[in-house]
Amino acid sequence: MRLVLLGPPGAGKGTQAARLVAKYGIPQLSTGDMLRAAVAAGTPLGAQAKEIMNRGELVPDRLVIDLIDLRICAQECASGFILDGFPRTVAQARALDVLLADKHMNLDAVIELLVDEDALLARVENRNRVTLKAGGVVRADDNPESLKIRLEAYRAQTAPVSAYYAERGALKQADGMAPIDEVSASIDGAIGVRV
Ligand code: AP5
Repeated sequence: MRLVLLGPPGAGKGTQAARLVAKYGIPQLSTGDMLRAAVAAGTPLGAQAKEIMNRGELVPDRLVIDLIDLRICAQECASGFILDGFPRTVAQARALDVLLADKHMNLDAVIELLVDEDALLARVENRNRVTLKAGGVVRADDNPESLKIRLEAYRAQTAPVSAYYAERGALKQADGMAPIDEVSASIDGAIGVRV
């Protein structure tokens, strides 16, 4: 199964991807996680991405397209994958179409989590509290200033990706404001799995 999860920052993409990993045994490919790992490791990619991410802007398309290209043909993705945070621009969506066609692969579903933007800051702040309580490190972009820019980037650059998939009849939507279990059930329904 090959899925794309779309939605603004804090919509629940990572939460639902983790559940899908546990349920279907396919990997989550989160470009945000890959970029944060590159930043933490101090690689050239991380050095290029760090300040852009901290500001809340999107990194250049080519960087994330190359990351995904490398991963989707790896053995771990033989049975499928869940794309979390990619594609995030129409150029990325077009590039993904080309990558998949080259590998004779299709997407099974693109699922957009619909959320009320007013709820997102509280969700991110709550995630920070949970992270700190567990002794972890809060993300450098999880603050009100960066979140505002992340939301602007979402509206300007990522919302058109939903329209791109809707025009192709591939877009399914789930109410991301519902309790987490209900969102999971909606996703199962959207991908045609009996719940
Ligand atoms: P990325 O890491 O992808 O972050 P994001 O899209 O901003 O999303 P988040 O991880 O903040 O939220 P989420 O939707 O996963 O929500 P979560 O499940 O954690 O990207 C970070 C940055 O990397 C970008 O800004 C950009 O710079 C760069 N980048 C990444 N990909 C890129 C790309 N393709 N192109 C260019 N640049 C890229 O949930 C949030 C909180 O809400 C949690 O506490 C959770 O418990 C809670 N929650 C979840 N669901 C519910 C629910 N239903 N009800 C109540 N609470 C809920």
